[in-house]
Amino acid sequence: MKALVYHGDHDIKLEEVGQPSIQTPKDAIVKIVKTTICGTDLGIYKGKNLYMKDGTILGHEGVGIIEEVGDGVVNFKKGDKVIISCITSCGTCDNCKKQLYAHCKDGGWILWHLINGTQAEYVRIPYADNSLYKLPQNIDDETAVMISDALPTGFEIGVLNGKVQPGDAIAIVGAGPVGFASLLTAQFFSPSVIIVVDLDDNRLDMALKAGATHVINSGKEDVAARVKEITGGDGVDVAIEAVGLPPTLTVCADIVKPGGNVANVGVHGKPVELKMEELWIKNINISMGLVNSNTIPQLIKAVGSNKINVGSLITHKFSLGEIEKAYDVFLNSSREHSMKVIVAP
Ligand SMILES: NC(=O)c1ccc[n+]([C@@H]2O[C@H](COP(=O)([O-])OP(=O)(O)OC[C@H]3O[C@@H](n4cnc5c(N)ncnc54)[C@H](O)[C@@H]3O)[C@@H](O)[C@H]2O)c1
Ligand SMILES: [Zn+2]
Ligand SMILES: [Zn+2]
Repeated sequence: MKALVYHGDHDIKLEEVGQPSIQTPKDAIVKIVKTTICGTDLGIYKGKNLYMKDGTILGHEGVGIIEEVGDGVVNFKKGDKVIISCITSCGTCDNCKKQLYAHCKDGGWILWHLINGTQAEYVRIPYADNSLYKLPQNIDDETAVMISDALPTGFEIGVLNGKVQPGDAIAIVGAGPVGFASLLTAQFFSPSVIIVVDLDDNRLDMALKAGATHVINSGKEDVAARVKEITGGDGVDVAIEAVGLPPTLTVCADIVKPGGNVANVGVHGKPVELKMEELWIKNINISMGLVNSNTIPQLIKAVGSNKINVGSLITHKFSLGEIEKAYDVFLNSSREHSMKVIVAP
């Protein structure tokens, strides 16, 4: 089969590789129908994370059709259409019992990180019963791909960890697909002010259409000064960091008001220096973490009933044969006016 294989920083190649097979009774083999590229894939491509092994297939998002299941899989059978969670979880370890699937003792974020991922024609999913979700007919395949990772990440690690409340003023730094997911799902809670910050004017325009009340281009304006102006000098109740760079986290700490929350979503590759001498007195919380994807069932219902329009994130479509081009288009989002790209084998 064809798959996109990681060989090191800036070195990924579409190659012919062997097809996956069942290795344990709880595995399923899924034929990929649609997959996509995450900001984390880009980060790793650019050299942010060191744990990937040469020869691993990339990708941790996708929708597919079950090709084969192991004898121990009870919830799925050949032919079922499924959403693949970016997090693999056994469902029975101590952490899984707390729905801390990100830290499943025999799973977590392993797809393309430790085992072969979804940017391929087929993928093996361990613990299929707990790591796959049936795709209802009222959600199209491309929209459903957003539910693998981007949507639960923006919701759980941004909005829920940030404890967005009705009437809040919030800021989202980073208007990529994950920041966008925070923008869409924050609106479940009716914040009064939603400020979106990015360097890319096209993504900021999209944010305004999707419910942002204010946008700031941090390449052209002083974010802290503008946020002060918008919030009458107070700062925001919740600042969500969805980039993964030191300055975007420190600006979140600067703009959050006393008693507020900073929710870091971005995957960082470097230490971040926080001005603790100024922050200690602010009674703020700073949260961070890996998506658990335990809200996928809830989000399937919200998307299926058109409470949020995640399909609007999809700007480009490619075949698997064109996946290297798809990376280039997602990477150069400003030039290409891209947001989320769909790749179909
Ligand atoms: N915590 C988790 O479980 C989890 C899961 C998935 C993704 N992530 C992370 O979330 C982050 C966002 O992912 P994405 O898919 O939206 O990525 P993306 O690369 O598409 O989006 C990042 C956005 O940040 C903007 N940006 C870059 N530098 C900036 C700066 N200095 N100031 C303001 N904006 C800036 C870019 O223009 C882009 O729009 C990444 O770090 C990704 O690794 C975390
Ligand atoms: Zn991801
Ligand atoms: Zn577990």
